[in-house]
Amino acid sequence: MILEKYEQTSGLCEKKAQDVLTERKQFDYNIVLIGFMGTGKSTVSDCLHSMFGMKVVEMDQVIAEREQMSIPDIFAAYGEEYFRGLETRLLVEMQSRKNTVVSCGGGAALRERNVAEMKKNGKVVLLTASPETVYERVKDDGGRPLLEGRKDVKGISELMEQRRAKYEAAADIVINTDNKTARQVCEELVQRFMEMKE
Ligand code: S3P
Repeated sequence: MILEKYEQTSGLCEKKAQDVLTERKQFDYNIVLIGFMGTGKSTVSDCLHSMFGMKVVEMDQVIAEREQMSIPDIFAAYGEEYFRGLETRLLVEMQSRKNTVVSCGGGAALRERNVAEMKKNGKVVLLTASPETVYERVKDDGGRPLLEGRKDVKGISELMEQRRAKYEAAADIVINTDNKTARQVCEELVQRFMEMKE
């Protein structure tokens, strides 16, 4: 069973910034990326892999492979609660790892139990973006069942507001991604972790 994204593919982000941070990139915990759909979790994970060689587990991808179904099909066939249960199980598995980026689906942090499991061996990073930015990033993608029927700035903004308190309560670090490249977000993220360690 393939668990890590880069057992199959290579990174997408430019592999240039092998600077001083690279020397200190080993984390003895996981970096758990949470945030609304389209806030850049997968892109930032790719970049952390390329820049710092971190392992990446893309939760939606692993769940879809294990279930042999797409995420929309899992929602349609078994419902959201079933899907959230699969997320919980995978988050528990991640506790035996370290120095791994766990890229969560946008709703994973809404379950209290999931957040508790993330925090047992991970630092939780919340990525944020404006509804306008999210809309631009997701508008042509049909793979997100919870945006069906509300894929516009107003619908995104409303769902984001409903979720905001839970996202913020889960986060150890918050990084806004509006108007930033993936690389800028990665550098900011690693910098913030360094500051936390000192
Ligand atoms: C969801 C976000 C999706 C996926 C599922 C549910 C959500 O992941 O897990 O469609 O509830 O926000 P992305 O955030 O990667 O789109």
